[in-house]
Amino acid sequence: MEKIQKALEKSLGSGQTDPSSPAKRPAGLNGTGRQPATGTGSLDIAYTSTRVTPVHDQKLERHRLMAGIERHALSDTFRMLRTRVLNRMEASDYRTIGIASSVGQEGKTLVASNLAISLAKVLTRTVLLVDLDLRSPSVHTYFGVDPEPGLLGFLNNGLELSQCLVNPGIERLVLLPNGRPVHNSSEVITMPRMLQLSKELRDTYKDRIVIYDLPPVLLTDDALAFMKHIDCCLLVASEGRTKEDQVKKTISLLQGYPLIGSVLNRSSETMPRYYGR
Ligand SMILES: Nc1ncnc2c1ncn2[C@@H]1O[C@H](COP(=O)(O)OP(=O)(O)OP(=O)(O)O)[C@@H](O)[C@H]1O
Ligand SMILES: [Mg+2]
Repeated sequence: MEKIQKALEKSLGSGQTDPSSPAKRPAGLNGTGRQPATGTGSLDIAYTSTRVTPVHDQKLERHRLMAGIERHALSDTFRMLRTRVLNRMEASDYRTIGIASSVGQEGKTLVASNLAISLAKVLTRTVLLVDLDLRSPSVHTYFGVDPEPGLLGFLNNGLELSQCLVNPGIERLVLLPNGRPVHNSSEVITMPRMLQLSKELRDTYKDRIVIYDLPPVLLTDDALAFMKHIDCCLLVASEGRTKEDQVKKTISLLQGYPLIGSVLNRSSETMPRYYGR
């Protein structure tokens, strides 16, 4: 496993450059149902037309969304990840991040969901988690919400974005889920309406972080097709599952895109203990 750790660490020292430039805000897409922020204090967001489906602590724990549980040791682990991610994103004015991995079942959605919750706890930030794994969507399962009409409702049925978002009862967090697997996924995520949406999501609110849960880089062309529309990316690998050559291949395919960090999931390191009383 040390080899995977090294491969991941090497990727961060590879000096990958930032191909993104701040996009101009396109006109014509619908809003998110959110009241634009005023002032500089913590954001008080009213979800005027966005569905609210509260997720309770028991469900959070069952679905391994520990970032949502105060005083859980793993909540602190995700706080540490959040702050590292946030520092790197702020340093480069990145506002959108893709969560990628080499193959399936490495923990992308788990990391994306916990990171989203943890980032939403930062009072000056809002977070939108988009399920862009169109072949195998699962963000809705983690949060236990009805995914309909979701992203495809927006892309294909002409619905307003606010009708497709869900607030899982966590302040400053909204989800854009998807419950209908599609097989021509890379064509769907690069259709003009999706690209326009990604620009709008990035540019409308400067305080908002958009997290895209991506499909595996080595199994579909989706992640690579969409990567140039995302500011930066985080690579998840799983101890005992991901092979060293898979990580190397993924890193080489991501060459040229800003990889701001990596997460070694299912690490055999001792479980952290909660610090404090
Ligand atoms: N650290 C962990 N400890 C225990 N179970 C985990 C851990 N990480 C992920 N899992 C479990 O492994 C399964 C796969 O995780 P997840 O759905 O996050 O992976 P994924 O990379 O998004 O998969 P896919 O490629 O299918 O989208 C889930 O059941 C999840 O709860
Ligand atoms: Mg997933």
